[in-house]
Amino acid sequence: MAVQDFEAALQKRRSIYALGNSSPISDEDLVTLIQDTVKYSPSAFNSQSARAVVLFGEANQKLWNIVLETLRKIVPADNFSSTENKIASFAAGHGTVLWFDDTEITENLKKQFSLYADNFDPWAEQSNGMAQHAVWIALAQVGLGASLQHYNPLIDDEVKSTFGLPTAWRLRAQMPFGSIEAPAGEKEFAPIEDRVKVFGLEK
Ligand SMILES: Cc1cc2nc3c(=O)[nH]c(=O)nc-3n(C[C@H](O)[C@H](O)[C@H](O)COP(=O)(O)O)c2cc1C
Repeated sequence: MAVQDFEAALQKRRSIYALGNSSPISDEDLVTLIQDTVKYSPSAFNSQSARAVVLFGEANQKLWNIVLETLRKIVPADNFSSTENKIASFAAGHGTVLWFDDTEITENLKKQFSLYADNFDPWAEQSNGMAQHAVWIALAQVGLGASLQHYNPLIDDEVKSTFGLPTAWRLRAQMPFGSIEAPAGEKEFAPIEDRVKVFGLEK
């Protein structure tokens, strides 16, 4: 892959909120793509504690229904229609990737390598974020839009009981994806010289 292709792939990934139910590739191919992307993403001590749960069809509707009914209990009724519309926009997609950390792995590493104990929680988050970013890019490459949502921890228990997931898994993010029904909004960039410092460059 030429470096320009890599840059183009990075740029193609955006937060897409107007999602549709169709997909340019089969669900089987999509699952393989997500599996490979998670597999080849790095993690601290090669811990591989990130977990992805891919929801399609009924399972996806169940998820967004859990979010809707959970929020209904806490959002004032007169403000609820905007919440309802937002959740409906995620449910309108083709599927969702749920991102978890398997805390059993992270807790074991803390015990095993006590010198680095304080680092394992942030490393688990960083590793999870790397896998999330990679999958987000992969989805964009096949023409699927996605965004990153955080209804955790409100929905954790019900999500885990609904899908029969281990209690030790901690929900970190929800990534609804689908066909791109409207392009991403404008994005502002901070001056890159303020963000990337260079020393010792030979001219
Ligand atoms: C760690 C992280 C958390 C985010 N949380 C949310 C979120 O809860 N809801 C949301 O709509 N977007 C969320 N985003 C998306 C950002 O708002 C978005 O990536 C940023 O504005 C840049 O836009 P772009 O994704 O189109 O490049 C999150 C992004 C990151 C990296």
